[in-house]
Amino acid sequence: MNDAILIDALNRMLSQEHACTIRYATHAAMVTGPYAEAVATRLREISADEVLHAEKLRGRILALGGTPTMAVRAEDLKPAATLADILSINIDEEIDAIKSYTEILNTVPPANVILFQTMQEIIRDEQEHLEELEALRISG
Ligand SMILES: [Fe+2]
Ligand SMILES: [Fe+2]
Repeated sequence: MNDAILIDALNRMLSQEHACTIRYATHAAMVTGPYAEAVATRLREISADEVLHAEKLRGRILALGGTPTMAVRAEDLKPAATLADILSINIDEEIDAIKSYTEILNTVPPANVILFQTMQEIIRDEQEHLEELEALRISG
């Protein structure tokens, strides 16, 4: 992957992270039911993680000579009204994010240590999000 293609791929993930931040924050506000408070707290924490992912992506895009996008990927803004829908939507979104970041990771030379490790760090976080959401679905 040359730098221009890599910058485009990272900007696509940045627009997705923007949407994830909004989606998790909105779902946190909407969640109801017996576990609402605990689930809302965790969704807000995940929203904050997605803010940090966006920050890391901006740094890597700038390092490659690109311009970080302010776009929000509309297709990732998925409303939900029930806990079941919230968990289902976000589990699908995390699976999609892990797949996309892994595709990028597989094109980054390991010698580009900062970008390689940044992709690994973000994938690790998304895998944690996925495991936690799946655990909530089982217990909920
Ligand atoms: Fe993320
Ligand atoms: Fe995530």
